[in-house]
Amino acid sequence: MEAGGRRRRVAALSAALLALSALSALALLLLSPPALRAGSALPPGLLEELRQRRRDLRRLAAGGAAAEGGLRCGDVRRAAGGAVLGSGFTKVVVRAALAGGGAVALKSVHGAGREVRQCEQRYGAPAGCRRLAAYKLLKEVTLLRRLRHPGIVQLHGQCYDSGGETEAGVTAVLELGAPLEMIQLLQTPWEERFKICLGLVELLFYLAHSPLGSIVLLDFQPRQFVMVDGNLKVTDMDDASTEELSCEEDNDCTLDFPTKSFPLRCSSAGKCEGINEKRNLFNAYRYFFTYLLPHSAPPALQPFLSDILNATGNLRYGINETLRAFEKVLHLYKSGLYLQKRPLLLKAEAYKCWPSYSHLGCLLSVHSPEEAAAICSSQPHCQSFIITQQRTWTGRPLASFQSSPTDLIPDTTAIVYIKRSASLGRRL
Ligand SMILES: Nc1ncnc2c1ncn2[C@@H]1O[C@H](COP(=O)(O)OP(=O)(O)O)[C@@H](O)[C@H]1O
Ligand SMILES: [Mg+2]
Repeated sequence: MEAGGRRRRVAALSAALLALSALSALALLLLSPPALRAGSALPPGLLEELRQRRRDLRRLAAGGAAAEGGLRCGDVRRAAGGAVLGSGFTKVVVRAALAGGGAVALKSVHGAGREVRQCEQRYGAPAGCRRLAAYKLLKEVTLLRRLRHPGIVQLHGQCYDSGGETEAGVTAVLELGAPLEMIQLLQTPWEERFKICLGLVELLFYLAHSPLGSIVLLDFQPRQFVMVDGNLKVTDMDDASTEELSCEEDNDCTLDFPTKSFPLRCSSAGKCEGINEKRNLFNAYRYFFTYLLPHSAPPALQPFLSDILNATGNLRYGINETLRAFEKVLHLYKSGLYLQKRPLLLKAEAYKCWPSYSHLGCLLSVHSPEEAAAICSSQPHCQSFIITQQRTWTGRPLASFQSSPTDLIPDTTAIVYIKRSASLGRRL
């Protein structure tokens, strides 16, 4: 296993990492798995689990393009103290600095995690158990390499720790994100929450039509996602599957959730039709749409959003229809068409209104000065507003609403609109 590697020591490394081209490393591991070489020493049950994971990995890696370029371990320096960004059953993620500046996330096997501990209790074979967990990370790396989408965290490379180039020491070098904070998201403006849901729908559309077939995320939960620059990205892919459930009759195809079950059809090819796509979509509905989509949406868009919630909550829509419905809402919102249906009355209280883009005042996105005027006249505290130069991701300008015209700060680039009933009684 040493032959494929290129050792490079970096002075400041807290743990010396070996540089190794990502794909050649993976190819070597697949050709000569230590699990099998050292197989006789492992309990038969563990050996069988290792074999299964290796088969799964090989199937996913087959036909994949060679990875060109990519970061090496020598390019990465674990940040002092290696701030832990998060951990799950199988993996732990720490922040690291790039030699050339910038930061990345390093993902490796979580030795103290539930997966490794449970395996150790069962088989009493620490090294074999680490390797078993490492196969999950290798599977994730393989998937990340083969799938490219803005909704999937980007893989920059992979490397091995100083313990040698065995799979147990594998580390994935990933784009740095921020773990998802649902409570925080609930307090952001509707436009940002809509963006997250739209991003998720675009991701599920990609997964349903991926080069590897329809992919299901079996462990679909908010903690498997991170935010990068306001965009949602999936990071935990080791529980993804490209297999669709096999069946003999429709009765074999029930899609079960704790609160609901959906009977599906068994196709003539002996597969439960669309089960992967449907499982993803219902999970998106129950973990994301129900919390993020409806509240404080522009009232004229609410019927469209209710329709999306109903149609995904009972799986009347597939992912294609769902994406179309989201794109329609986006179009109505961006073009301001929704305003023709009903004047907009956003809820906002005091002069820190909610949900504002700024904690310091009342900053809301608007389609036009007319919409801002409607908002201002609906708010007793509003005396004036400015359309700022700032724009949100949909291209809408941000308007700053103020309670007193005397607070005005002179600015030659901004037009200040003042309520007629306000003391000055004119528009500056
Ligand atoms: N690229 C990343 N940037 C920042 N944090 C991340 C990143 N990837 C994962 N995390 C955090 O690490 C946690 C564990 O990673 P995950 O892949 O979900 O491991 P597990 O398979 O053990 O659940 C995630 O829940 C998330 O909070
Ligand atoms: Mg996870």
